[in-house]
Amino acid sequence: MTKKILIDTDPGIDDALAIVFAAHHPELELLGLTCVFGNVPVSLATDNALRLVELLGQDIPVCRGAAKPLSMQPHPHPDFVHGKNGFGEIDSPSPTRTALDVSAAQFIVEQVRAAPGEVWLAPIGPLTNIALALEMAPDIAEKAAGVVLMGGAALEPGNVSPVAEANIWNDPHAAEQVFAATWPVSMIGLDATHKTTLDQTFFDQLAAQAPKQGGFLNDIHQFYLDFYASRYGGERKCAAHDALAVVAVVAEQLLQFQDCAIAVSCEGIAIGQTLVAPAGAYNHDPFWAGRTVHRVAMNVDADAVLKLLLGTLKQAN
Ligand code: RIB
Ligand code: CA
Repeated sequence: MTKKILIDTDPGIDDALAIVFAAHHPELELLGLTCVFGNVPVSLATDNALRLVELLGQDIPVCRGAAKPLSMQPHPHPDFVHGKNGFGEIDSPSPTRTALDVSAAQFIVEQVRAAPGEVWLAPIGPLTNIALALEMAPDIAEKAAGVVLMGGAALEPGNVSPVAEANIWNDPHAAEQVFAATWPVSMIGLDATHKTTLDQTFFDQLAAQAPKQGGFLNDIHQFYLDFYASRYGGERKCAAHDALAVVAVVAEQLLQFQDCAIAVSCEGIAIGQTLVAPAGAYNHDPFWAGRTVHRVAMNVDADAVLKLLLGTLKQAN
């Protein structure tokens, strides 16, 4: 049974792996890539998405989206994580293809309305485009199959502050709108992605089995592996943040979820923190009454995920 997936992205090194995986998985129909600021400015995110589509040699629509958060000043782009060009300072040809003349939010609304109950939204960057689409067309909350997002942290410490994960921190107001809506959200956060790490052995195998596409992914991940080594005590292992969100769409059995309501701190020193309220737990504060119960990924069969990634990318060239 093929699933329709629409990826909202800020490519971005780990975004690239997620997108190549989605494009090759036989049970996924990749409807398009909508681009958002985050790892890089949205103009570069859009160009990088077009570069990936050309690398894939597939006719995947690309749309440009939000250049800044809904209602706060944007943070500087983390070029120390993804490189100034978003692809680990690895040069690649300028894209010859162009983005559709449709905004990301409009494209999201059109795709969801065209196939009610079938389209999985997989945001792997800040949630601004998703929130804008909701504002434009609240009915998509009932018409989308669901939202499977990379972002947040339940019990795991944050990666941009003690409590905040980057995608949420980059637009907490948008994230709060997404979690407050009535659609089913699966939060693939640091609790699971920090347990799903990739090392040079993985990328050597990927490059050997797919010299062009795998080789590119290996090349751009070197910068990312070096960043992780510098930040997390020397081991050259990086988290497969975004790829795990796409895996969760097509192989959710590899993750363990907890049913929780989710809210986002939108001010103060905890801004960007995702607060989770396990379903059924007593909450005296009326804020939580009636909030949609979503799913939070708390554990993962990481070995199986890596096997699935490599197995799927055998289709790559
Ligand atoms: O915190 C990790 C997330 O932030 C990933 O989506 C990565 O690409 C960055 O956008
Ligand atoms: Ca991303």
